[in-house]
Amino acid sequence: MDTVAVVDLGGQYAHLIARRLRELGVYSELVYPEEVEEDGEYSGYVLSGGPSSVWEAQHDRIVERILASGKPMLGICYGHQLLAKVLGGEVGPSPKPEFGPTTVRVLVRDRILEGFPARVKVWMSHNDAVLSPPPGATVAATSEGSPVAAFWTGNVYGVQWHPEVKHSQLGRELLDNWIRLIGVKREWRPGRLIDELVEYVRRMVGSSTAIAAVSGGVDSTVATVIAYRAIGDRLIPVLIDHGLHPEGEVERVERALGKLGIKLRIVDYSSEFLAALEGIEDPEEKRKVFGRVYARVFEEIAKSTGAEYLVQGTIYPDVIESGGRRGADVIKSHHNVAGLPEKFGLKLVEPLRMFYKDEVRLIGRMLGLPEELIYKQPVPGPALAVRIEGSINRRLVEIARRANAIVVEEVEKAGYARRLWQYFAVVTRSRATGVKGDRRAYGMVVAVRMVVSDDAMTAEAFRPDWDLLEAIMRRITSEIPEVVRVVYDVTSKPPATIEWE
Ligand code: XMP
Repeated sequence: MDTVAVVDLGGQYAHLIARRLRELGVYSELVYPEEVEEDGEYSGYVLSGGPSSVWEAQHDRIVERILASGKPMLGICYGHQLLAKVLGGEVGPSPKPEFGPTTVRVLVRDRILEGFPARVKVWMSHNDAVLSPPPGATVAATSEGSPVAAFWTGNVYGVQWHPEVKHSQLGRELLDNWIRLIGVKREWRPGRLIDELVEYVRRMVGSSTAIAAVSGGVDSTVATVIAYRAIGDRLIPVLIDHGLHPEGEVERVERALGKLGIKLRIVDYSSEFLAALEGIEDPEEKRKVFGRVYARVFEEIAKSTGAEYLVQGTIYPDVIESGGRRGADVIKSHHNVAGLPEKFGLKLVEPLRMFYKDEVRLIGRMLGLPEELIYKQPVPGPALAVRIEGSINRRLVEIARRANAIVVEEVEKAGYARRLWQYFAVVTRSRATGVKGDRRAYGMVVAVRMVVSDDAMTAEAFRPDWDLLEAIMRRITSEIPEVVRVVYDVTSKPPATIEWE
């Protein structure tokens, strides 16, 4: 299958480029610069943005190597500057660094800019700029801060802006034009993907046995179904009952997998998890401890079953936020990525590592999973442990479980569930004064959060109607005696994250 490599030069949106190309029907994957081989198997290359400066000359050799192969290229942001410099153009500090929405003047409405109007609003983020083009190149667009905002020469193209970001007008069209111009075949069909993922698991596990770590969420369920198709009864799907699952979660996933003929083993380790987490205040530490116990439990199960592999539903945002790709900062440690010890006794199989959740949902639908499971809101791996600020104990877990169930029930009743990415409650560490039954009450503050998001990388707070908030407030304060106040979190991501901890 024709494949386009997106060379990850450390840009925040590198993975989005690969995703956009897949949306346009071209199979695309992210590769590190050193993975670019002399006459590799790729049909084209996109050079991503990145934090480096062309003066560091860090990536010149890679670009020269691809140029020598004659394969088509598209440079984006830093990739654009890099191409210009290697081809003999001039790159220097921009006369006006551009961040965010920027107007670009299109000089040549042809090739990758075919069908463009004279001006487009695009998304930029740069300090350096291409000041003059490589000899013989066409300058196709310009902006105040980027004298050469787009150029081409032969089958090499560069744009200073980010066509992969939704805020860039005609970004999709630009990538579509590029694909057409370089003649790569659009052979990517999501249906084909399932066969490939099944094949991937089959190849990795060989004739061994694998455990599937089932959490209750869509990611791990999809990974389990794929693995089951690949190796059948050599797969042992296990759900660890860590005592922190939301209400009804364990039973729901058992039923859903049962309908697909997959028998789930549920093992109760709730006392171990609670004992290990008690007294730990720091959220990062909580995730790490959770990850350690989780890893130990799976190693124990592996020993008793003889399994060599662990199938996990890790998806792309888990990898990137845990600092799993070089150049990206650690936002928080997802237990299934950074929580695992260096010397873990099981080899990992993560068929969904390259995908975003909405892509995983599509795969889940094609696999025939029930809608209520596919569109179920995500629950973080450490589940209610990160919905309680600071140290946890059994009573706090019960409070968090009830408060979360109330939010879920009310949001579903109001008909908002499918519009929201997540909706949940957090038991905060704050204490406040209230009055309950004519008596002074000094009690807990529960925060309610509802967010809208496409991929969890960014999110906006939802604007619920007042009746919904009031219904939630009434139920939480009356059904949970310890709670005296309910507050609503209006913060977007960034600057906040979706979860509170
Ligand atoms: P944040 O809070 O980082 O969350 O904006 C982004 C998405 O990831 C989920 N999340 C986690 N998932 N382990 C997981 O498996 C974790 O430690 C974790 N922390 C956050 C979160 O629910 C949201 O959907």
